[in-house]
Amino acid sequence: MTAAPTIQLLPDADGLGRAARYLGQGGLVAFPTETVYGLGADARNDTAVARIYEAKGRPSFNPLIVHLADQPAAEALCHFSPEARRLAAAFWPGALTLVLPLVAQAGISPLVTAGLDTLAVRVPDHEVARALLRSFDGPVAAPSANPSGRISPTTAQHVVDGLDGRIDAVVDGGACPVGVESTIVDCSGAAPVLLRAGGIPVEAIEACLGQTLLLPDEAAPDRPTAPGQLASHYAPMGRVRLNAEVAGPGEIMLGFGNVDCTLNLSPSGDLLEAAAQLFGHLHRLDAMKAKQIAVSPIPDHGLGRAINDRLRRAAAPRD
Ligand code: TXA
Ligand code: MG
Repeated sequence: MTAAPTIQLLPDADGLGRAARYLGQGGLVAFPTETVYGLGADARNDTAVARIYEAKGRPSFNPLIVHLADQPAAEALCHFSPEARRLAAAFWPGALTLVLPLVAQAGISPLVTAGLDTLAVRVPDHEVARALLRSFDGPVAAPSANPSGRISPTTAQHVVDGLDGRIDAVVDGGACPVGVESTIVDCSGAAPVLLRAGGIPVEAIEACLGQTLLLPDEAAPDRPTAPGQLASHYAPMGRVRLNAEVAGPGEIMLGFGNVDCTLNLSPSGDLLEAAAQLFGHLHRLDAMKAKQIAVSPIPDHGLGRAINDRLRRAAAPRD
């Protein structure tokens, strides 16, 4: 966590250059978009993305939107369907987020997708955001720049009120013109699904596609709306036993702290490191075909709450 007060930067060449350098060093920078201020981090850097959760005090890992300077940058990370291309051509830059299949080896931290194989991407329509993205020249993961459970910020002052001292810098680009979050359309399946209403009207999207958007329960009646709500979502294939001090017979140990184990979330007991490692290690356990997994106790404060939330889902009974 950043101890020093958050630095307020002007959206000029000097301010944007400093903001891009903070991002490059794994720091957190809030920046204006046309919808709301985003809390940005390098989407390829596990530790930087873990810091987003720490700064917001989010009690769970929800997948984050990746912000890009233009559509070619998004095409390097995701597979675009014809519908997705049509929507991007019509509404980017703009307040539309597309959820698309993630390109394998795209280099995006698994903490950004919360372990999913889809990625949410958008090209914001804000001069300052685009200048920052061009200057940084990489994918920027950014949820709204507010503490968890609070109102999304539409001015730099809102950001400072909520997150002062918890993030490195905020670029002050004035008030956000749209003021509500982006519309989210999932184009990763057979038919486009509306995941969140937002800045681009649903009618405009449907007119562009010439078809009605499905609602999540129509697309997958047996699945709850948000991926994080499904208890056993993101679970590894093996059975998970929590709060284990040592591995039992046949178990593979996912450790935390100074314990004997196969994979360790953080040998030094650092929750930021553990959060940064979590999804990568769960994928590694699958790659090892681990059938029974024992997990060390994780302290239930700070980032430990989000880690424990995810581990409880991984350990939930399932078919
Ligand atoms: O306007 C916006 O979208 C703002 C600005 C900063 O761009 N960002 C924003 O991010 O609202 P956030 O984190 O507050 O909301 C992201 C939403 C979450 O509800 C999350 O569940 C959904 O996007 N999301 C992200 N990736 C997803 C994925 N792969 N599949 C389904 N939903 C996803
Ligand atoms: Mg939000």
